[in-house]
Amino acid sequence: MDKIVSLARRRGFVFPSSEIYGGLGSSYDYGHYGVLLKENVKARWFEAMVRERDDIVALDSSIILHPAVWEASGHTAGFADPLVDCRFCKRRYRADQLDDAQCGQKPSKHPGETEQCDLTEPRQFNLMFRTRIGPVEESGQDAFLRPETAQGIFVNFKNVAQIARRKPPFGIAQIGKAFRNEITPGNFIFRTLEFEQMEMEYFVPPAEAQEWFRYWVEQRVSWHRRFGIRESHLQVRPHDAEELSHYSSATSDIEYLFPMGFAELEGIAHRGDYDLQAHTRASGTKLEWVDGEERYTPEVVEPALGVNRSMLAFMVDAYDEETVAERERTVLRLHPALAPVKAAVLPLVPRNGEMVEKARALYEDLRRAVVAEYDDSGQIGRRYRRQDEIGTPYALTVDEQTLEDDTVTIRDRDSLAQERIPISGAKAFVLDRLAADWQTPKAS
Ligand code: GAP
Repeated sequence: MDKIVSLARRRGFVFPSSEIYGGLGSSYDYGHYGVLLKENVKARWFEAMVRERDDIVALDSSIILHPAVWEASGHTAGFADPLVDCRFCKRRYRADQLDDAQCGQKPSKHPGETEQCDLTEPRQFNLMFRTRIGPVEESGQDAFLRPETAQGIFVNFKNVAQIARRKPPFGIAQIGKAFRNEITPGNFIFRTLEFEQMEMEYFVPPAEAQEWFRYWVEQRVSWHRRFGIRESHLQVRPHDAEELSHYSSATSDIEYLFPMGFAELEGIAHRGDYDLQAHTRASGTKLEWVDGEERYTPEVVEPALGVNRSMLAFMVDAYDEETVAERERTVLRLHPALAPVKAAVLPLVPRNGEMVEKARALYEDLRRAVVAEYDDSGQIGRRYRRQDEIGTPYALTVDEQTLEDDTVTIRDRDSLAQERIPISGAKAFVLDRLAADWQTPKAS
């Protein structure tokens, strides 16, 4: 993980948040390449969930919902972790994770293991961030920042079902920020206070729910595989009964082998009719499917993935180090569809006016089609290394020969193979390569 954190910082993917004030635990800011990578993760999810299907529509609901939503959904009462405090060192720990935590006084021991440790009984600590609506503190109304995007979907069920004229099975997909007052330290961007979720609620006739649950587990595993995650680094783990969330009758986690071990990447939950029934009872609005004589409350299957956690998994899986011509190279072997920059244009001799002119013209042409970068600072080897570290699949170099025959070299990030191609066909060449099937060269 240290290597990923260091690369992310060095290349401006991710910075600790509020760093000039000493940072804020479990909060991160995203720099240029981090933003591009995150946008690509979201775009690939949205394509697979909405654009490539006829049965799923999009939604963008508010972050602050009516507080009654969280009462009805069970989050006010049930979205809590059991915590213990140490009266001696004043630290707070998850009661169910003491075996993984380090004692504040003696990190080689677990909390409760030294003589000085003085732990309280576990208390339930709600994970929702509370805020106030209204300009006057005393007369304002308590509200919450949403801890999941899902509830915004359930409370819009009737609007969408009527207007989109969809009959179950159909889904509603949403990408947006969620907030949780997490107290366990986060393993970089794995667990943070504020993160983005990509959630889809799939509404189905009750008799079909089990079948759709299995379908979505398979679909989601194949999405991660499609964008390069190695099969050997993924596993599906069904939850035990005592592990299930308050709303779920079955959940399977897709786990990824992060540097700290296998951990949840995405959760697929069978939520039954829990949410639609709960909001029907609390709001008085019937959230059901009605078509002539047919009338029922659909059941829900929900694949829920964190954007930031997905980005971390893609970075970890893509990270590689190798020695080439006796020099170390670090490379992010990202799927080209996820890579922040698709092509870099490099004039071999940046002081050569003719080379610069040709390189800039090629760059201007390419950037209209894909995210491209023009780099003329430093030796060519260092420029290649910089692009390797941010995962740019193709580097196009303008050199002396370009001035003679209008060809450029194109270098493949993974194989390091270089080909000479006409400059006039360079854009089409890059677009063709980007559209081609891709498999991670790390697959074993
Ligand atoms: N609506 C269901 C739900 O929210 P979840 O398993 O609590 O289920 C879904 O969250 C996904 O959101 C997780 O699999 C993970 O990828 C991401 N996630 C959850 N909490 C997170 C956190 N504190 N930081 C980053 N990502 C988080």
